[in-house]
Amino acid sequence: MKTSPFNLSEIEDGFYKLVFDLPGKKVNVLSMETMKALNDVLDELEKKKGVKGLIIFSGKKDSYIAGADITEFKPAFEDSALGQKLIKQGQDVYNRLSKLPFPTLAAINGICVGGGCELVLACDYRMATDSPQTKIGLPETQLGIFPGWGGTQRLPRLVGLQQAIQMIASGKLVDGKKAYRIGLVDALSAPEFLEATAFEFIKKPKKHRAKTGLMGSLLEKNPLGRSLLFSQARKSILKTTKGHYPAPIAALDVIEKSSGKSLEEGLKIERDAFIENASDHIDISRYLINIFFGQESLKKQGGFPGELPEGRDVKNVAVLGAGTMGGGIAFLFMKKLIPTRVKDINLEAIGHATKTAWDIFKKLMKKRKVKLNEAIRQFHELSWTLDYSGFDKVDFIVESIVEDLEIKRKVYQETEAYISKDTILATNTSSLTISDLSQGLKHPERFVGMHFFNPAPMMPLVEVIAGPKTSAETIATTIKLAKRLGKIPLFVGDCNAFLVNRIFMAAAHEALFLIQEGVDIEKLDKAMLDFGMPMGSCELIDEVGIDVTYKVSQICEKAYGERAKTPELLKKMYEAKLMGKKSGKGFYIHKGKKKTLNPEAQKIIQSFAKDELELSEEAIQERVLLAMIVEASLCLEEGIVSEPKFVDLALVFGTGFPPFRGGILAYADSLGLPQVVEKLNGLKEKYPLRFTPTKQLQEMAEKNMTFID
Ligand SMILES: NC(=O)c1ccc[n+]([C@@H]2O[C@H](COP(=O)([O-])OP(=O)(O)OC[C@H]3O[C@@H](n4cnc5c(N)ncnc54)[C@H](O)[C@@H]3O)[C@@H](O)[C@H]2O)c1
Repeated sequence: MKTSPFNLSEIEDGFYKLVFDLPGKKVNVLSMETMKALNDVLDELEKKKGVKGLIIFSGKKDSYIAGADITEFKPAFEDSALGQKLIKQGQDVYNRLSKLPFPTLAAINGICVGGGCELVLACDYRMATDSPQTKIGLPETQLGIFPGWGGTQRLPRLVGLQQAIQMIASGKLVDGKKAYRIGLVDALSAPEFLEATAFEFIKKPKKHRAKTGLMGSLLEKNPLGRSLLFSQARKSILKTTKGHYPAPIAALDVIEKSSGKSLEEGLKIERDAFIENASDHIDISRYLINIFFGQESLKKQGGFPGELPEGRDVKNVAVLGAGTMGGGIAFLFMKKLIPTRVKDINLEAIGHATKTAWDIFKKLMKKRKVKLNEAIRQFHELSWTLDYSGFDKVDFIVESIVEDLEIKRKVYQETEAYISKDTILATNTSSLTISDLSQGLKHPERFVGMHFFNPAPMMPLVEVIAGPKTSAETIATTIKLAKRLGKIPLFVGDCNAFLVNRIFMAAAHEALFLIQEGVDIEKLDKAMLDFGMPMGSCELIDEVGIDVTYKVSQICEKAYGERAKTPELLKKMYEAKLMGKKSGKGFYIHKGKKKTLNPEAQKIIQSFAKDELELSEEAIQERVLLAMIVEASLCLEEGIVSEPKFVDLALVFGTGFPPFRGGILAYADSLGLPQVVEKLNGLKEKYPLRFTPTKQLQEMAEKNMTFID
């Protein structure tokens, strides 16, 4: 006999509690089976006499309901009859819950999202804990769908149109305190007193209404104000999504269409639109869902193939080099309250990194993401040195000094003389191999690559790379530490530039060759932006730094030969000392947030091509993207990455490749691999070194295969 995930019991005197505790699972998720079980509980409750109130708790520690089981819903996106059935079933169960003839209270501690949030919205009252683990919201639009079990209807009724649109369109979650401020919950409790506080509350339940302010009321209450509110919301969503993500707009349409209508009518509008959006944009939601699951799987052990030991808990760290990257990495450690010793040879660099770190704290305080006392506490984890004092106490070092093989090796030898026998030394190199760097080390088993992306505090990905002698414990500890910093670790093979930078360099080179041939910089950048990239190619090279790009390019040329040859234009820009954004001048002149074309760069470009080469936007995009596809396929052939899905995740989280495209290999699949090979063969005539289809691509195209399921 199956055990029900719901356990109903009387607390006392007609007051009941319902505990949701999915057997054998760490978190509660909603599936058709759990919905049926909830329906059975509702049958029982409807029949019961003398019920005075019901409180719904979770039996899981620090987690309420982690949403609906998306894998179960995926087939419903393709089959609209099945979709209608699933959505209607969910709506019906929550309608029954909302109509129970006694007060119902959701007592929320921990994550409460998606279908879980819609469940609590169907209760009469909500109480949340003030624990940092408590997060409530409707993140469906981030997966290319939108709430379909009443979320678009009940949330606006509860917190007002403005708040509801903002939450649903962005998919962002709110903590308990914010939930109380906006009227999403009626009371707050400390986690340890939740049961007692909830029981007191249900005996004398009281609605808590948030203040909307005069402007808010004016906008929401009259038809003219409402129409202004919807048009502003539409503009703002389109500005953020650039029209690439249809779900937030579809959700907004539902809220607008159902505004002023009955709940029943609204639920029908929500149901119909949910199915329409899911089937019209099935690819986008498939990509976004794949990315979501991929990210979750990387969080386990960074995609490492095989077993790994537990990994050590790091207590004290050091960062060698307080430059652009070292400063950002030190910030990440401080933020997690890990004592952080920063060493540089240059006092100015330390001063700059310290100021930059404090500036980030100031920004976070302004956004109310951290309080002054917390920021001060975290900031105090930082200490600095110009020598190796204190290095005997650290158990993990991230080296982030200049990208020079000889200097790095020399510094490792110095460092090894000061550290304990267990200290792990990790390098943040972006292009040198771990194998080359480990030459001459006394303890190569404790040497590892830990490659952050710029800006380190923001970019989610960290590549973890083993050298020939790196121990499993060192790999496991590095992956564990990356996760502790809130990063997504990805284990990749050792080669120059690793996975992400190899593909990034292929794209950067192709963009530079296009310019050498006469393609206008702004046209090229616009083409890539229109594709969905977060930045145009030249803008990105300026951002990374022309010096950094040039150095990595040189290393790639040396490692991969003629097909990775550094474009002359890059060399000339470097020689002209146009370093990009950091020096104010690169392809563009950068003044604050403004940028204009740099005449000095234009002059250099004209030495390659006098006349503009007219290429369509699609042709420009195709050249850059096909170059990336070839490099990604080479990385797979060489075993630099174990699975195609990891390539896509790496580009999304390491470079901001547009998630709605699913990643470079999902994009190749969307073109069709036979078409990819045909296009490559077309370009191969003119550029045989860069556009020859790989063996893998040819074989997969012949069999009409895809990279991603
Ligand atoms: N900049 C990026 O976008 C990026 C991204 C990922 C990885 N990386 C890698 O990170 C490393 C650092 O890059 P960066 O951009 O921060 O460089 P940077 O030039 O901004 O900083 C390097 C710092 O190292 C210091 N340094 C030099 N020799 C030292 C020594 N012997 N001991 C201690 N400090 C020393 C310098 O004074 C400087 O402050 C490089 O290996 C680079 O490839 C850079």
